[in-house]
Amino acid sequence: MTHLDHLLAEAIELFNRTDDMTELEQVKARYLGRHGQLTELLKGLGKIPPEERPAVGSRINQAKEALEAALSGRREAIQEKKLEEQLIGEKLDVTLPGRGTGMGGLHPITLALDRIQSLFHSVGFTVASGPEIETDFYNFTALNIPENHPARAMHDTFYVDDENGAGEHLLRTHTSPVQIRYMESNPPPLKVIAPGRVYRCDSDLTHTPMFHQVEGLWIDESANFSALKGILSDFMQHFFERDDLPVRFRPSFFPFTEPSAEMDIGCVMCKTGCRVCSYTGWLEVLGCGMVHPNVFKHVNIDSQKYVGFAFGLGVERLAMLRYGVNDLRLFFENDLRFLKQFN
Ligand code: PHE
Repeated sequence: MTHLDHLLAEAIELFNRTDDMTELEQVKARYLGRHGQLTELLKGLGKIPPEERPAVGSRINQAKEALEAALSGRREAIQEKKLEEQLIGEKLDVTLPGRGTGMGGLHPITLALDRIQSLFHSVGFTVASGPEIETDFYNFTALNIPENHPARAMHDTFYVDDENGAGEHLLRTHTSPVQIRYMESNPPPLKVIAPGRVYRCDSDLTHTPMFHQVEGLWIDESANFSALKGILSDFMQHFFERDDLPVRFRPSFFPFTEPSAEMDIGCVMCKTGCRVCSYTGWLEVLGCGMVHPNVFKHVNIDSQKYVGFAFGLGVERLAMLRYGVNDLRLFFENDLRFLKQFN
């Protein structure tokens, strides 16, 4: 083997021994750099006899080309190996399904509230709200429920401790105090609903300490009971999407309305009687009546000039009936298996 062959074999062997780019470039410099062994051989051409120069020169050039080819082959191999290692390290399986962003959904109570609000909005009701921590005055007195009235005991009220210990504040037991607050600051005629949370110290299969009501109030110079019946019947038929939904109004008592009534709808779960309607075929859905003159007195509205009606409905009850939910507690347990069914 000539010196040149030897040099070539040695360089290629060194190229193949390294997996590192920087090291590879250092090895390259040893042969092809400014003072590299092959470069020096080329420089030395001038010293050999002229007749031998072309042959020797061409051999050195061939060796240089071979070395450069080996070098670029090695560069590619190192890069490929690096990429392969990276791919194995990242274990990226492009055939796996994407993770997605996980679509959320609205809570069934929110869905029912939205539906109730948009139906009343479509017949001209605006939306009002009031505080959940109320005073005794707004929750009871102004609604014609004086102190020591038995109706107070029926409300299972949560009282809030005040600084002086006197239980003047409470968690509202119904949305009716919003009627008073709204009438105080808005002169009639008026037409509002007030959706919101209410609280009662009560917890069993069909009662939770917090639930939702929607209050309704319509006051003008000609509101009457038949308009009340018409509005509420239309509402129920649209809410349950049943034009033939039977409704009935039973006489009842609320201190803040006179006359008062309770509204029933034909059972939406059965045709012949079931547990939900206690085999009566009827479901009680709301309380209503003509605003009591004593309530008008508290807010300085002239009951000789104005008449009005009010109603209050339970949102959970309507949601259970519309969505076929048989346990009230499901709404508040936040079990995703239940909630996802409404997405
Ligand atoms: N506030 C009553 C309740 O919670 C419902 C109601 C509202 C009745 C308005 C009549 C008029 O039971």
